[in-house]
Amino acid sequence: MQSSKKYELRSPSRYHGVLNAPHRAFLRSIGLNDIDIYKPLVAVATAWSEAGPCNYHTLMLANVAKEGARQVGLTPLVYPTMVVNDNIGMGSEGMRYSLVSRDLIADMVEAQFNAHAFDALIGIGGCDKTTPGMLMAMARLNVPSIYVYGGSAEPGFYKGMKLTIEDVHEAIGAYLSKKISEDELLQVEMRAHPTVGTCAGMFTANTMASIGEALGMSLLGSASPTATSSRRIMYVRETGKAISQLIELGIKARDIMTYEAFENAITLLMATGGSTNAVLHLLAIAREAGVKLTLDDFDRISKRVPLIASLRPGGDYVMADLDAVGGVPLVLKKLLEGGLLNGDVLTVHGKTMKEALEEYKLPNVPHDNIVRDVKHPFKPTGGIRILKGSLAPQGAVIKVAATNITRFEGQAIVYDSEDDAFKGIENNEVKEGMVVVIRYEGPKGGPGMPEMLRVTAAIMGAGLNNVALVTDGRFSGATRGPMVGHVAPEAAVGGPIAVVENGDKILIDVENGRLELEVSQEVIEKRLKDWKPKEPRYKWGLLAKYASLVSQASEGAVTKPI
Ligand code: FES
Repeated sequence: MQSSKKYELRSPSRYHGVLNAPHRAFLRSIGLNDIDIYKPLVAVATAWSEAGPCNYHTLMLANVAKEGARQVGLTPLVYPTMVVNDNIGMGSEGMRYSLVSRDLIADMVEAQFNAHAFDALIGIGGCDKTTPGMLMAMARLNVPSIYVYGGSAEPGFYKGMKLTIEDVHEAIGAYLSKKISEDELLQVEMRAHPTVGTCAGMFTANTMASIGEALGMSLLGSASPTATSSRRIMYVRETGKAISQLIELGIKARDIMTYEAFENAITLLMATGGSTNAVLHLLAIAREAGVKLTLDDFDRISKRVPLIASLRPGGDYVMADLDAVGGVPLVLKKLLEGGLLNGDVLTVHGKTMKEALEEYKLPNVPHDNIVRDVKHPFKPTGGIRILKGSLAPQGAVIKVAATNITRFEGQAIVYDSEDDAFKGIENNEVKEGMVVVIRYEGPKGGPGMPEMLRVTAAIMGAGLNNVALVTDGRFSGATRGPMVGHVAPEAAVGGPIAVVENGDKILIDVENGRLELEVSQEVIEKRLKDWKPKEPRYKWGLLAKYASLVSQASEGAVTKPI
């Protein structure tokens, strides 16, 4: 399959012809000769940072991608983007910059790409926001593009147990509630994340990388090899080569990122029990691609797609285990065989999803413990559900893959920040049966919807098994338990979550898709009438700028011109 139009290169208008001599002079300054200058110019946009393991090695991978691109007659040039390392920002002011960084990455890729008249784009990412940031840029620029992931870390081992970073967060809860000693906590800390690469479970980074394949924007099989795998190098080199075919066939990002491709991405998300953050990111990427995707699409697909993978945090296995049995293509093939995946959509292979999957060779190994057929799933419906109701008129998100509780009714205990909630748990204010409400942590209120992993891990670590959480902030992909996030509208813009009071009853009803504040409508309206907005946390600088531009979670929390 191929696009009907030939792709018109952008670089000739900037670098060819007599009048472009000054521009060419600068390419000569970096060692390019005539042959290099007149080849298609490929941007290798690389989210790179030494400040954490997730993107520590991506600059090395960028050089591998360049090598591949050069082998097929292209001129590749690397430019970096920023990275916020989620785990290091977690539970601090740093986390407010995380979602902000997604849109900044998209902006940085766009600015450098257009300013230098590149022809095609390879994006390399790792940590949570880097994959969606890259995909947003690809959708926005609409040029031949391929995304390749930096790979996840190998899991750690302690006392015969497989560890991920999630275990360190939960060990803190266990330490605070005196279930483990400081030395035990140190042992977990020392072993949990033993190599470079992203968090090992099917948390947000691995979820988004897997979605890259399901969307058709990454080479099949490229998401699951660990950062340390030699197959990672191979996939990155192949990505460098594959971009040449897209240029030749005239296949641009939006030819691939169609509504049907997003349906496939959501299908994979539901089947694997991936991170709730993917809801936000897919809405944002779709918006950049000009595709009308809504929360209702997620709920519709969740009801028809079973959970067929057992991956942490909801299941037992990590990305490296999935890789050993066939990676994302194994899941995609199961979904295609079950009639749940659209095989006619285009991919970066220059072929349809069905054709590309048919050509992909799976290892012949038993895999029923990790990935099952759609007829014998781990759960009959998808990993994420959308809830609506008097507490979230525009929607909220719950990850059902990570909990067996589908109905929860309890009294609210309300905190106006993540910090206050953490202290509340430390002070034993939170009791079994309660619904912890954390508000003013939404896209504008946070700003940046910080993730509540510190709080959710503290709840789990303290052995509070019968506590739910409702927030206008986000959850980490590593979160477990009955946790509802992305409540929209958020408290900062006067959503009903702003007027919940201690002791109010809240109902979480997954089966019927409801999130209700069980107070009469008249009382809610009266409270909303009396509600006064809070002073913003930031009045200057990036976070203040972001808060003024960002939309609600139900729209993907994208920044848009006023
Ligand atoms: Fe980077 Fe988890 S902190 S992927």
